[in-house]
Amino acid sequence: MKTPVDMNGDRLLLQQVRPAKTIPGLEEDVRQGLLQGRPRSLPPKYFYDARGSELFDRICDTPEYYPTRTEDALLASCAATVIAEVRPRHIVELGSGTSRKTRRLFDACVSEECHSAYAPFDVCHDVLVEAGGSLVNEYDWLTVSALVGDYHAGFEHLPDFAGRSLFVFLGGTIGNFHHHEAVEFLSELRAHMQAEDRLLLGADRVKDPAVLHAAYNDAAGVTAAFNLNLLQVLNRELDADFAADGFYHHACYHPGAQRIEMYLVAKQSQRVRLGRLEEELAFDNGEAVLTEISRKFTPESLQALLTTAGFRMEAHFEAPEGYFSLMLAKPDA
Ligand code: SAH
Ligand code: TRP
Repeated sequence: MKTPVDMNGDRLLLQQVRPAKTIPGLEEDVRQGLLQGRPRSLPPKYFYDARGSELFDRICDTPEYYPTRTEDALLASCAATVIAEVRPRHIVELGSGTSRKTRRLFDACVSEECHSAYAPFDVCHDVLVEAGGSLVNEYDWLTVSALVGDYHAGFEHLPDFAGRSLFVFLGGTIGNFHHHEAVEFLSELRAHMQAEDRLLLGADRVKDPAVLHAAYNDAAGVTAAFNLNLLQVLNRELDADFAADGFYHHACYHPGAQRIEMYLVAKQSQRVRLGRLEEELAFDNGEAVLTEISRKFTPESLQALLTTAGFRMEAHFEAPEGYFSLMLAKPDA
């Protein structure tokens, strides 16, 4: 781990988490997913440059994107129970983004007189700096140790947190993993956890396809802009020349697979240069790149996932009409 950067007195620290295992970088992911893979695909973590994080935050405010509001209200109603039950010394959040909903837990820390420290872990450096700065201003007792890194690279090099940790994984992000990836990810987390630690996992639920469809196709086009920003990331990082208007956003729900699939679709046949890779991509008209899946769960499928990964569910909090679930889980002995 690099030397922590002290950014705000001693209450905001930022440090890099060293990968515990080798994972592919952008060039390799692009070679495998975009050049060779059929259907073509890219891992979702590349969405989140500074602009992508900002666009995601705006998605959360669109009227159609119910998950954020729903999970926030659910957290508001169960946070005191969770904090009173777990009484964590540390709250460690994976893929924390702007930490907007996590404030519900900090509010509960105040009401329950359990002043936990906060360790947000995210691949986007800029969002951590921004969120960390706001949090230490809003909560004058809160210590933030922001961790920059990739949660697919293992958890062995997370700092050693003394005392009980509550690991938090919100936003339904677990649904962005294929089943085997979710099992691997949660199992690795499980292996890193102490017996007294807990996991609070948020997951979006199977529901009316029209509601799901609208959530990923907002009328103002913010989700489309977010999806298309990925091409700008490739242009910048790989010296590529994707045309800004060469592709369109397509998202649809597949009831059989219980998942949203998000694509970027070529508007016409085209060639794209990837300067850094010294390669060229040839797209047919209508050819699609899979940029994200978002799986939806039933209480049974979510609990089964936890069990497979070595957890035991302790509590299940559900939003009205079964729109969203939060499960509190402990490592199984
Ligand atoms: N938890 C927030 C944000 C969800 S968006 C919410 O519920 O609203 C997903 C977040 O995960 C982004 O902030 C993104 O930067 C981060 N992220 C995506 N892939 C990641 C990875 N491989 N490692 C660490 N963080 C990642
Ligand atoms: N975790 C979010 C989800 O699955 C991510 C997300 C929301 C997303 N809207 C998106 C990812 C649009 C790509 C494109 O709900």
